Amino acid sequence: MSENDKGLRGVVAVDSGITSIDGERGILRYRGYDVGELVENCCFEEVCYLLLRGDLPNPEELASFKEELLIARTIPTEVEAVVDDSAHYARPMEAMRSMCSALSFSDPDKASNEYDANLRKATRLISQVPTVMARYRRRYYGLEPVYPDPELDYAANFLWMLRGELPSEEDAKVLDSVSIMHADHEMNASTFAARVIAATCTDMHSAIVGAIAALKGPLHGGANEWVMATLKRIGSEEKVDAWVDDMLDRGRKIPGFGHAIYKVTDPRAIILKEIGRKAFDRANPNEPNWFAMTERMERRVFERKGLVPNVDLYSASVLYYLGFPIDLLTALFAANRVVGWSAHVIEQHLDNRIIRPTINYTGPPARELPVSQERA
Ligand SMILES: CC(C)(COP(=O)(O)OP(=O)(O)OC[C@H]1O[C@@H](n2cnc3c(N)ncnc32)[C@H](O)[C@@H]1OP(=O)(O)O)[C@@H](O)C(=O)NCCC(=O)NCCS
Repeated sequence: MSENDKGLRGVVAVDSGITSIDGERGILRYRGYDVGELVENCCFEEVCYLLLRGDLPNPEELASFKEELLIARTIPTEVEAVVDDSAHYARPMEAMRSMCSALSFSDPDKASNEYDANLRKATRLISQVPTVMARYRRRYYGLEPVYPDPELDYAANFLWMLRGELPSEEDAKVLDSVSIMHADHEMNASTFAARVIAATCTDMHSAIVGAIAALKGPLHGGANEWVMATLKRIGSEEKVDAWVDDMLDRGRKIPGFGHAIYKVTDPRAIILKEIGRKAFDRANPNEPNWFAMTERMERRVFERKGLVPNVDLYSASVLYYLGFPIDLLTALFAANRVVGWSAHVIEQHLDNRIIRPTINYTGPPARELPVSQERA
């Protein structure tokens, strides 16, 4: 098979009406709406509704959807036990994988893949995953869990449960915007994994557990942690160019750059860069200027290799400025992406055929089995 065929580049796997990307022009749309306009004008809950149901909600629909999300924030006690236990020995993405699986144990719709049941499960998962993630992190630090606050929307409540104090409106808006940009991204690796799993007619929780496992990898969602760890290792703006040169001279990859689909800068990176510029104004003055370091890295990587940023380059420091520790960055991405994975599972179950590609066989030709005494 050719290098191009490797990784299924350009292969159309499914019909989908959820998200479209124009990689030549750097355009990302959810159900036809430009992602930048959604970030400017909508909240994460509206975007969830749009992705799951196909259209933006009217005010009554939004109010009722928010109510459903609120009710779903509490997690069953047996999941609390899994969370508390895993906080002692599991890394955040390992814990996410297990906790999402545990969320299916007592889900009342677990046996059904019907449209309405899938919508209910998706709504529950969107709300439950932040609750389990925040509880996990507080237990990890030996702190008491902070329970969801019904007065707060998704982003503010997420920060409240993690920090144990009310976030500023600005911080909640930043997380809301990042969450919208993380919500879906067409046929990326984890979404493909979710659809392959869903296409066996198994349940939504199983598909999302598989998607979390795929997102964890450093070439996919794990790249945001890799970016932030890299910035910390480099340590200061003056050292960025030499570090980039050294990596590229040794043929190594730089996290946060390159994309299988975009030929120009990822539109989410453009928005995140502006958010990062403002976030730095509120950053800790005793820490290096992560934003300036990222900008410098962007410039140097482009000069040397012509590569442009993807979503993870600027999301890393933006989330770090919000107080997310490095090892929680991919888990936050996963929590936000639950909506996109769910929308794709729903779509897959509505028009399903098992996904079963084929291979270009490169093993030995047919041969005789040696008689037993000749075997090693
Ligand atoms: C995203 C990614 C997996 C896409 O992979 P891909 O479409 O298969 O592209 P390839 O890995 O084949 O890269 C094509 C060329 O660009 C180079 N390249 C791609 N991304 C690069 C990066 N981040 N740093 C340095 N070189 C890179 C490759 O080395 C290759 O160069 P070559 O033709 O000289 O060998 C890849 O760009 C990558 O690993 N990026 C870093 C991880 C990351 O940020 N992931 C998040 C994606 S949203």
